[in-house]
Amino acid sequence: MRIKNLNLKNFRNYADERIEFSDGLNVIYGRNAQGKTNCAEAVYYLCTGTSPRARRDKQLIRRGEDYAEISACAEGRYGAVEIYAKITENGREIRVNGNKIARNADILGNLYSVFFSPQELRLIQDGPEERRRFLNVSISQLSRPYYIALIRYNRILEQRNNLLKDKNLNTVFELLPVWDSELSKYAATIARRRADFIEQLAPVAAEIHSALTEGAERLEIRPEKKYKGSEEELKERIYTELSENYERDIRLGFTASGPHRDDVEIEIDGADAKSYASQGQTRTAALSVKLAEVEIFKRLSGEYPVLVLDDVMSELDLPRRKKLVSYTQGLQTVLTCTHAERVLYGLETHKIRIEGGKVKK
Ligand SMILES: Nc1ncnc2c1ncn2[C@@H]1O[C@H](COP(=O)(O)OP(=O)(O)OP(=O)(O)O)[C@@H](O)[C@H]1O
Ligand SMILES: [Mg+2]
Repeated sequence: MRIKNLNLKNFRNYADERIEFSDGLNVIYGRNAQGKTNCAEAVYYLCTGTSPRARRDKQLIRRGEDYAEISACAEGRYGAVEIYAKITENGREIRVNGNKIARNADILGNLYSVFFSPQELRLIQDGPEERRRFLNVSISQLSRPYYIALIRYNRILEQRNNLLKDKNLNTVFELLPVWDSELSKYAATIARRRADFIEQLAPVAAEIHSALTEGAERLEIRPEKKYKGSEEELKERIYTELSENYERDIRLGFTASGPHRDDVEIEIDGADAKSYASQGQTRTAALSVKLAEVEIFKRLSGEYPVLVLDDVMSELDLPRRKKLVSYTQGLQTVLTCTHAERVLYGLETHKIRIEGGKVKK
């Protein structure tokens, strides 16, 4: 997957710019607050339909304007693809090769990217929600059935939670089995695919982590242990778990088990990373997971995603920077930094200087 160019109109601090990318390593550099991250964000948005940092699409519109337009032309395994998004106060329109997409799911699978920024440390050190988010974004890009199951699961979950708050217990007990039969079906799809993904990711992440630390540390990643077996078996088990906990859920007023509560175990040298890892270990582990994601994408989709590295160089020591750069060989990378870093000198890179939302020639 290679992005040829990116067009930004009224997007963040960009008025109207076109940014051309090379197939290899693209280095976006410039001083603070010039628009480097904004550019990385636009790439991510076109790949996933969401921003890695904005809560609302509205924030992406340049202040004082009433719409934003972003588009990119890319070259993938199946030929050229053009993705276009127009964001207004009231919503958005997305076109793939000129055709308006009907469902959000249709934006996925056209452009692939793996995004890494200092924020990604949260993947290791924050609560389970961050790890679920990682899995959801990553697997959704690779698997439409996963994305659809996720959307449906969340919708039914919301209805189930509303039902749990109903004062009429007869209705509650009557309807719960009905919701749960649907809910457990989607839960099983989600749980099974997450476990499969983690099982593929774990050994690759461990290998990369070992390389980044020169063999000094061991990274282990494991999915929820309770999800062993086929999707059909999981569905049965999840259904049973839900039905054995009606009273608990009614008392709490929400559904206290299921994929929306699950976590991923991440350990460094046998100790829970969230509780024990140092800053440097956390950073290296997060980077290893993300670089492993790149490899898994390649394995599952047949081509490399675009790797977007926002502001990560400054946080790594020189040997790790060099290792990181070596992992970007053979795929398109968009890397932002404040000065074209020393480690990049002598390498074949395409340098793009950004100043005040403009590309400086
Ligand atoms: N909707 C918007 N309209 C106008 N300007 C915006 C909008 N959103 C963000 N900006 C501005 O864009 C500028 C550049 O932001 P960006 O995060 O891309 O900086 P950066 O080059 O990555 O800087 P740093 O090196 O500090 O990370 C900021 O000054 C910010 O205020
Ligand atoms: Mg930035």
